[in-house]
Amino acid sequence: MHVALTGATGFLGLRLLRRLLDRHRSVTALVHAGSGDALHRVTRFLELADAPEPLIAGLPDRLRVVETDLDAPRLGLSRRAFRALADGLDAIWHSAGSINLEGDLPELRRTNVDGARHVLELAAAGRAKPVVHHVSTAFVAGRRREGVAYEDELDDTAGFENAYERSKYEAESLVRAWSAEHRRPVVVLRPSILVTDLPPHPDLPRHPLQVVERILREARGTVDTDGRPRLRLAGHPHGRLNLLQVDHAADVMLRLADRTPTGGVDTYHIVHDRDVPVSLVVSVLERILPLSFELVPAAPDDPTTLEALVGFYPGLTAYLTHRRRFDDTRVRALLGPSAVSGRVDLDYLVSGLVPEDDARAGPPAVSATALPSTGYA
Ligand SMILES: NC(=O)c1ccc[n+]([C@@H]2O[C@H](COP(=O)([O-])OP(=O)(O)OC[C@H]3O[C@@H](n4cnc5c(N)ncnc54)[C@H](OP(=O)(O)O)[C@@H]3O)[C@@H](O)[C@H]2O)c1
Repeated sequence: MHVALTGATGFLGLRLLRRLLDRHRSVTALVHAGSGDALHRVTRFLELADAPEPLIAGLPDRLRVVETDLDAPRLGLSRRAFRALADGLDAIWHSAGSINLEGDLPELRRTNVDGARHVLELAAAGRAKPVVHHVSTAFVAGRRREGVAYEDELDDTAGFENAYERSKYEAESLVRAWSAEHRRPVVVLRPSILVTDLPPHPDLPRHPLQVVERILREARGTVDTDGRPRLRLAGHPHGRLNLLQVDHAADVMLRLADRTPTGGVDTYHIVHDRDVPVSLVVSVLERILPLSFELVPAAPDDPTTLEALVGFYPGLTAYLTHRRRFDDTRVRALLGPSAVSGRVDLDYLVSGLVPEDDARAGPPAVSATALPSTGYA
């Protein structure tokens, strides 16, 4: 059984790769051409994640690296190389993509929609008819901020919070159409927001919460004032988000892939069984940033410089108003209680945001349990 993985150097892809290497003698990584030494990046991740030494030492022999470009026809490969690659595969995991929540639609479409099309063309060309595992996102549910999103739903009637969501929706639609046209099974995996407690490191990819932290930190840096400026953010007092440990997500995905696909499109929500209140995420940010937050019903009419800067990221701040739940009945029916992961709490999230050296220096003098104030009081 030979498996190829796109996005193997990404936040999720690295965890998928590690687990694929647990199951297969070798794996082909379809890496981003011109984007740095993939073998070195994977090795650094395994070292930082304390992977067993034999796994790290054996990597050069077991990982076959093929440079590709998702945006390009035939993934940027020659006709011959594309055909040879396709014919050697029994399964394709497609985890590469752009997760830029503020990216523009044409750019996101090139990577996420055209990229999925090119991966499907690879699967169509393969003599062994490889099974496709397509990594989507629970956020294809779009701008529907309340209620329950189900695994079999895919529609655009509520619109989208940002172009990223739309591009992922379009990619998933393409996958469904391809499966129906070619009568081929596809496993669609829809994770929620993936988090880690592995401290950030320059050699590791950034994760979404880290991106948020960085945006706020940089915005804070532009304001010349001591103390903790207050930031009013439009959010819902009962807002909640689904955050899932990235390692658990990868475990669940691999275990679902062990099942024989039904033949059409099998879609799974890879989510935590408990949402976290938006206030917890805000508390985490207050813990690590010299800022304080106030959740208010609507964006202020008289924004401060700082609020105006953060207001440049509407595709991100919109999530503070979310209250919906993702139903994962299918996953739980197949995997039972083992689909449930541990708690995602303040300490876990802080650990994944504070570099190890800073953590050793001790926490800033702010209460870990301080909840943000809300303009709803
Ligand atoms: N992270 C989350 O919380 C989350 C939640 C839900 C769904 N997802 C989905 O999970 C998948 C993986 O996300 P991630 O967090 O691992 O993202 P990531 O850390 O940004 O990694 C993206 C991966 O895609 C590769 N890539 C980007 N553009 C490419 C191109 N044009 N050609 C070839 N490869 C390219 C990157 O390679 P380079 O690094 O070398 O550019 C990297 O390996 C995505 O499909 C995303 O939509 C993620």
